[in-house]
Amino acid sequence: MEDIKLPKGFVFGTATSSYQIEGAWNEDGKGESIWDEFCRRKGAIANGEDGTTACDHYHRYKEDIALMKKLNVMSYRFSISWPRIFPDGYGKVNEKGAAFYDSLIDELIKNGIEPSITLYHWDLPLKFHEEGGWLKRESADIFADYAKYCFKRYGGRVKMWATFNEMYVAAHLGYESGKFAPGIQDPKKAMQAAHHMHLAHAKAVKAFRQSGIKGQIGIVHCMSPVYDMDKTNRSAENARKVDGIWNRWFTDPSFKGSYPEDIMEMRKRQGTAPEILPGDMELIKENRADFFGVNFYFRFRVYDCDSDEFNWMNCVNSRPVEGAKITEMGWEVFPEGLFTLLKNIDSQYGKIPVYIMENGMAAKDIEGPNGEVADDGRVEYIKGHLLACSDAIKAGCNLKGYYYWSFMDNFEWTSGYSKRFGIIRVDYKTQKRTIKKSGQWYGDFIALHKKTAV
Ligand code: FCB
Repeated sequence: MEDIKLPKGFVFGTATSSYQIEGAWNEDGKGESIWDEFCRRKGAIANGEDGTTACDHYHRYKEDIALMKKLNVMSYRFSISWPRIFPDGYGKVNEKGAAFYDSLIDELIKNGIEPSITLYHWDLPLKFHEEGGWLKRESADIFADYAKYCFKRYGGRVKMWATFNEMYVAAHLGYESGKFAPGIQDPKKAMQAAHHMHLAHAKAVKAFRQSGIKGQIGIVHCMSPVYDMDKTNRSAENARKVDGIWNRWFTDPSFKGSYPEDIMEMRKRQGTAPEILPGDMELIKENRADFFGVNFYFRFRVYDCDSDEFNWMNCVNSRPVEGAKITEMGWEVFPEGLFTLLKNIDSQYGKIPVYIMENGMAAKDIEGPNGEVADDGRVEYIKGHLLACSDAIKAGCNLKGYYYWSFMDNFEWTSGYSKRFGIIRVDYKTQKRTIKKSGQWYGDFIALHKKTAV
């Protein structure tokens, strides 16, 4: 632990998202989101579960914030449910829904916790989706209008903003594999939706700057460093392709203002390239975000094997690693990957401030008689990743903060409630919250940091 040296001013936070914790799916005038609808589809979610109640955070946010305070959390990253504010996606505001976030923000500030808002963590208003949603070019303007409303209402009190969470997942899982809402299976549409999200991001950044509110606006991408395991020509080629499809296709537009040429050529051959109109890339380039948000969960190991452009996952993680620790999600624990990733961001995108907006693990979490959980594995996980942060800063990376995913156990999308990531245990029957050993550890660590960091 002595080896973890993070500078004064480094932000320690925890993260959640609206659909995964709020519940109150149809209360106080909230519109439905694509996840409300998707969860009703037979077989879509493990055990047929859904987020209708989730952690009931909508009613229990004060109790939750009190727990954050107890753990010395400096910043709380949450997302706004777009259909809570605009039930149709646009048009009339639902005052009660918007007022919920006023109360949440005020309560955070009262407790000395900095709010960090993400505008889109996948819960697109259903009505707007049925009218075309992300497949329509106008979605960029509609998103920007929603963003403007939030800047005006919450700006001033909130200084840290992010537009999108994990465009990769929203596009590929939502529109290509169809495993996530809205469950569409069409790779060309996935790329078109992603392009509209890039435009929506740029328009929101532009509106943020025009609004004159103080603060910073960023975007959050999921990224995995890619390791070429075999060092042959074919494995190197596979690795480059995987990096391009998963990482660069999303981060290059955001931070370089262009799509990677190698992957664009591939998409043109496949017939999956998005339609890009004159002026689009200029708009994206001119509105580069203030910070680079990154979610890190796993690395990709790429091997020398047969992979064509359509089956690019074939050679990814296709062989086991001896002795590797694996989480309940089946993801390899590999904190060195975070160091590599931060170094990659530094060398590819320069000295932009970087925040780790999500990092965490799902564990078995055996509950004691009073709800206590001795999750030593999670403590080790956090320590390992904080050490990687500390090493990256030593190596010159401009890393500014770390948010653990997640503040509490919650609805893990298609896995339902079976996967627990929290540093707070949630008993879904009673909604009782219990601080896990990892939560206590994180809280103590932050307290020590506040006292000793230089
Ligand atoms: C990320 C998501 C987040 C959560 C974690 C485990 O991809 O952004 O909502 O599900 O994975």
